Amino acid sequence: MKRKRIFSILLAFVLIFSLATTVAASQGKSNIAFDQGVISQISISRMMEDVRYLSEGIGVRIASSPEETLAAEYIARAFEKYGYEAEIQEFPYQNRVAYVTMVGPEVRKIDVRIGGTRTNAPLTDSEGITGRIIECGYGGTGDFPEEVAGNIALVRRGQETFQNMYNRARSAGATALLIQNSDWTIFSASVTGATIPYATLNYDTGELLRGDDIVVNYKAFQYDTSRNVIATRKPNNKNRNTGNVVVFSAHYDSVPTAPGANDNASGTAGLLELARIFSSKPIDTEIRFLACGAEEVGLVGSRYYVSQLTPEERGSIIANYNMDMIATAGPDQSTLYINTLDGDNLVSRSAREAAERLGYGHLVRAPFHRGSSDHQAFFEGGIEAGNFIWRDPVTAALEPWYHQPYDTMEYMSEARFKIAMEIVAAASYSVIRVDTPNLEPKNKDKVKPIKYIEFETEDNTDIPEM
Ligand code: BES
Ligand code: ZN
Repeated sequence: MKRKRIFSILLAFVLIFSLATTVAASQGKSNIAFDQGVISQISISRMMEDVRYLSEGIGVRIASSPEETLAAEYIARAFEKYGYEAEIQEFPYQNRVAYVTMVGPEVRKIDVRIGGTRTNAPLTDSEGITGRIIECGYGGTGDFPEEVAGNIALVRRGQETFQNMYNRARSAGATALLIQNSDWTIFSASVTGATIPYATLNYDTGELLRGDDIVVNYKAFQYDTSRNVIATRKPNNKNRNTGNVVVFSAHYDSVPTAPGANDNASGTAGLLELARIFSSKPIDTEIRFLACGAEEVGLVGSRYYVSQLTPEERGSIIANYNMDMIATAGPDQSTLYINTLDGDNLVSRSAREAAERLGYGHLVRAPFHRGSSDHQAFFEGGIEAGNFIWRDPVTAALEPWYHQPYDTMEYMSEARFKIAMEIVAAASYSVIRVDTPNLEPKNKDKVKPIKYIEFETEDNTDIPEM
């Protein structure tokens, strides 16, 4: 009798224990199964097509420019293709853009960076200025021949200040000035009191303009509006709705002369791919896909988006997954950083866990303290946000051609693209899917006002005068 009782107690223990371990094991297994369910759907070739259209079909996508608008329309059409309504959210941003085209002896686009600031660079009428290129050495006193009058002066950077070269070109009657760099990089030049348009180019681009009878057309215009593109999906089942929101984001603008393949057609393509994959998954959390305009000029689009949210909405956003530069082939950019501004948060935690499950734990550094992309705007709005970006494991450096004309598809890594996407997809799905394991309830009653913080720019070299 007594023996039997002890035996049944023991049996009960064994049963409970083994039940508990099988539940745990099956939960562990199902996490991996959920991961597989999303990552198996990621199509690198589809993402590469998007990158090709954005960086080659359109090319440089400067904030507020018509090219940025073309990219917005492409993104909106993609969201619609995946079954979403696409909202275009316009906001004011005044910017000036230069377009230089070689019109003879052949026709080709010449990428330049407009001289002056975004609000004071000299402009042209809609026809622009057409003239022969006159080579004017290093822009010294005796370097401007008579024929420069009525034509476009081309000078080499390196011996004279921008101001002196500009003054001499204008006095000689040049209608515009182009300043060629001495190396492969692009730079910015500003002079005071400018009345004729001027722009800078890198060494290789400048070389294209040397030769006899080269004629170029130079246009410089002001634009006033940029835009975000937003797609939203609410949970299918009202009884399984946490009331929470997750926002995915990526900027689609680029800096002058940079086709922005890695920065940030890669993140934009990743955003579209997540929208496609998550369009048919069971979720208990609202998801929003935010393609940001005007990031490169100071997070203007994402800050605008956050500023337009009601405090209740801001309180309901539990995470922002931001993708920026997720496919570099940079020689040393072998670690995927998850940048945050509030230490370890839901984004860095879920990413770290997902990376471990997928066998990528050794490739990830999370969290790392850094702003300077659209996740910063969410942090400023009191939202847990993280940015995914490949960097040097030791120095945290970005790719050497960051913000340069060489940010093209040629320097992208499909392997890194895939890894970054698998981590973002698995991490975010562990948060948005029905019966999410990852969540602590969010306190929606204490929504703080938005508080802007300073930018630490990635490239903080002072712009020299010459
Ligand atoms: N993709 C870059 C660099 C970046 C991304 C830096 C993520 C750090 C984290 C981004 O588009 C960029 O160039 N940002 C600017 C700052 C911005 C606020 C003007 C920069 O770092 O100079
Ligand atoms: Zn970027």
